[in-house]
Amino acid sequence: MERIRLVGGHALSGELPISGAKNAALPLMIASLLTEEELVLRNVPRLADVRQLNLILENHGTSIEPVDSDPGFNGMGGQTLRFNTPSITSTTAPYDLVSAMRASFWVIGPLLAREHEAKVSLPGGCAIGTRPVDFYLDGLRALGAEIELDEGYVIARAPKGGLVGAKLRFPKVSVGATHVVMMAATLANGTTIIENAAQEPEIGNLAECLIALGARISGIGTPRLVIEGVEKLGGATFEVLPDRIETGTYAMAAAMTGGNILLRGARAENLRAALDVLELTGASVTDEDDGVRIIGPNGPIRPVDVETQPFPGFPTDLQAQFMALMTRSAGVSKIKETIFENRFMHVAELARFGADISVDGQVATIRGVNELRGAQVMATDLRASVSLIIAGLAAKGETIVNRIYHLDRGFERLEDKLRACGAEIERLDA
Ligand code: EPZ
Repeated sequence: MERIRLVGGHALSGELPISGAKNAALPLMIASLLTEEELVLRNVPRLADVRQLNLILENHGTSIEPVDSDPGFNGMGGQTLRFNTPSITSTTAPYDLVSAMRASFWVIGPLLAREHEAKVSLPGGCAIGTRPVDFYLDGLRALGAEIELDEGYVIARAPKGGLVGAKLRFPKVSVGATHVVMMAATLANGTTIIENAAQEPEIGNLAECLIALGARISGIGTPRLVIEGVEKLGGATFEVLPDRIETGTYAMAAAMTGGNILLRGARAENLRAALDVLELTGASVTDEDDGVRIIGPNGPIRPVDVETQPFPGFPTDLQAQFMALMTRSAGVSKIKETIFENRFMHVAELARFGADISVDGQVATIRGVNELRGAQVMATDLRASVSLIIAGLAAKGETIVNRIYHLDRGFERLEDKLRACGAEIERLDA
């Protein structure tokens, strides 16, 4: 099994290109199921999750072809892919495909909208909490779908003539449920109003893509989305937005190592809350024409308390990385995780570096230590894994991160990017 070896103590410096966002690329790819015409997506990151979703889409009849590869900065540009689904060949998304990645459940929206039926296995994904799908199902029911659960599958049927626009309100902000109901509503009869919709930039990216395909959507970036159903969607060429979580991750790494890096292509407006927190730690954050520059604190890292929140708040997907940074702060900080109930699995692994962290329910208390020491650690989920890389970059001596397949799900060419900025990091085959 592949592992990553790194030797800490090098300040990151130089330029690091930000890839297309995994969490935008996945719903955009799924949206291609809504139309019989071609969707061309640019800046798709080369990730295990993208390859897994390709398999899922192919199972429904989508053909996926690379157009060309834009080598971009340092040969690290994203790929351009063409998605064509002239007809849906299967409305079933089987367990063995869906269980590997939670977002694959989202095909339920387009399948139901276009074919009026879907049979989709209940999802898997990172083990960060129970992660139910009740909001999705209630949302689709509001559009007229009949839903039953049978042996681990959700079986959904639209009324004769298709889904019907409706007004609905999610009880809690959900990124996935917003994606799914928005996609389904594009082809419904009449107008759908989603209240308490997620406002994450990835939702905006999907909405803009759907509009490019011919959908009628307003309220983007607000908690109230209005979708007027249309009969058919067409084709489009669309670009995946830069990954704000990758941006925040490398920003924390730069701060942690006292580095100075330009995150090329990053959009500061998509992670303002996290960048504001970084500034409070003493790091300098500057918007430049071609990205965001992070310079590590000139002095000790200051402790800052953080609570995860839906966008525009501090993202749960940066919680583990920020915790790694706080392990070296000159004081005590608290992190409250409000989105997922079991997203502190990195705590035990960070402790192997000598970090001092205690957890009480949803709150972690981190007492900064003077030094982290390299360790053998194990990746547990995608974002937790990269928090171990951040800790290793600042630790004294050698760190080995095991089970790195989690990292490959969401970080494109992590070792190459970090090595180009001066990190001592390599992938070991066994
Ligand atoms: C998306 O997951 C992201 N995944 C997650 O990133 C991210 O952590 C999460 O949003 C929150 O920002 C993708 O975009 C592919 P939710 P999602 O529905 O949509 C509860 C990563 O590392 N809930 O917004 O699954 C749920 O349990 C991943 O890239 C219900 O109770 O998250 C959670 O507490 C991990 N019932 C909260 O809502 C439902 O039907 C928010 O989850 C749906 C959700």
